[in-house]
Amino acid sequence: MPFSSNSMGFDSFGFGSAIRSLWGLEPQAIFLNHGSYGAAPKRVLQAQSAWRERLEAQPVRFMGEELPQALRRAAAELAHFVGAEPENLVFVENATSGVNAVLRSLSFQPGDEIAFANQGYGAVQQTIRWVCGRTGSLPVEAQIPFPIAGPEQVIAAFEAILSPQTRLAILDHITSPTALIYPLPELISLCRERGIPVLVDGAHAPGILPLKLENLGADWYTGNAHKWLFAPKGCAFLWVAPHQQAQTHPTVISHGYGQGFTAEFDWVGTRDPSAWLAISAALQFIQELGVERIRQHNHTLMKQARQLLLDRLQEIPPVPEDMLGFMATLPLPPVWQQWMPEQLLSIRARQLHDYLWHTHHIEVPIIPFGGQLWVRISAQLYNYLAEYEQLALALERLPDGFAV
Ligand SMILES: Cc1ncc(COP(=O)(O)O)c(C=O)c1O
Repeated sequence: MPFSSNSMGFDSFGFGSAIRSLWGLEPQAIFLNHGSYGAAPKRVLQAQSAWRERLEAQPVRFMGEELPQALRRAAAELAHFVGAEPENLVFVENATSGVNAVLRSLSFQPGDEIAFANQGYGAVQQTIRWVCGRTGSLPVEAQIPFPIAGPEQVIAAFEAILSPQTRLAILDHITSPTALIYPLPELISLCRERGIPVLVDGAHAPGILPLKLENLGADWYTGNAHKWLFAPKGCAFLWVAPHQQAQTHPTVISHGYGQGFTAEFDWVGTRDPSAWLAISAALQFIQELGVERIRQHNHTLMKQARQLLLDRLQEIPPVPEDMLGFMATLPLPPVWQQWMPEQLLSIRARQLHDYLWHTHHIEVPIIPFGGQLWVRISAQLYNYLAEYEQLALALERLPDGFAV
C-alpha cells in the first residue's frame, strides 16, 4: 500500500493522529519514544482494571481457583503469537527479570566465560558483572561497531570472542542504544557449532519481528510484551527450551519449587497478575488492526522519518535500512559529536532531552554511546511524519547554549 501522511497526521493506513485517541498520551506530547517503555492503549488498560476488580471481589477464590487456569490460558495465547509451545513459556515482569532468572540459575566456575556485546542493555551487562563477581567467571564483550556496514560485522565481532571457555552467549535480538536487528539465526548457529548455550535478550522483538521461538535454536528467550505488543507494564515472558527447564528457576523461589518449570514461575508469591492476564486484550487489539498492517506502517514510517532526519541534519546513515525495525538511532549534528568524557556525555544527553521536552514537547531519547550522542526515534501507530519534522526543526535550531 502506498504510504503518505498529510500535515494533519492522517496517513493512508488510517493510523497516525486519526488513531491517537486510543491511547491516553498527553495531547501536547510529540511522543517519539515508544521503545523505552511502550504505551498501552486505553482499551488494554481497561481490560487490566477488569481483571483487578475480579481479583479483589473474591481474592481467595481468584488466587486459588481462577488464576492458575487464567494464567495458563494467557500464556498459551502469548505462546501462540510468538511461535512457542505453551508449556515452554512463562510470564515474568520484564526482560531484566527474564535475564536474571537464567543467569542466576546457572552454575559458573572460575575461568568460565560469558559472552555478550558492547551494544547490550546496561541492566543485563550489570547482571553479568554481578554473576561473574560471585563466581569468578569472566565477562567477555564483543565489540560491535556503530556505525555499522552490515550484519556480517555483528557475526565477526562474536566470532572473535567465542572460545572453548565460553559457557553462555547472551545475544540481543534488537539492541537498545543502536536499534540494530542482529542476524540471530547465524549467531545462534555459530554458538551451537561450538556447543555454547544461548540466551536471547529479545526485549524489543515481540511485535516488531515475527517470531517462531520453537524453531530459533536458542536455549532461552526473554521478551517484553509491554513494549511493542501494547500490554500493560510488567508483562513479559521467558521461553525456555525443554532440555534447559530443569535447571532454570525464577529469581524468587516459592511454593512451586521442584514441581516443574511452569509451576515454579506461575507462582512467585502474592502479586498483581493483571498485566499478564491483559495480554489477551493486547493481542486482540493487534489482531483487530492487523499485525501485518501495523508492521508495514511502523517500518515504513521509521524509514521515512529516518530519511527526513538524515537529510535535514545532513548525516550519513549509520546502519543499513534492513537492519532496522520500528526504531532508528541517528547521529546528532556535528557540533554534538565532539569527543567528551563519558560522564559529561551523559549530562549533555540529559540536558538535550530535557530541552526538547520542556521547550518543544518532544519526548525522544538522547543516547550517549561510543563517545558521542545519538537520538533514537521510534515509530508507532499513533505517530506521523510531521512529528519527526518538528524534531528536525528543533535539532536544527538548538540555542547557542547547547553548542559544546
Ligand atoms: C535490549 C534490552 N534488553 C532489556 C531491556 C530491559 O527491559 P525491561 O526494563 O522491561 O526489563 C531493554 C529495555 O529497553 C532493552 O532494550
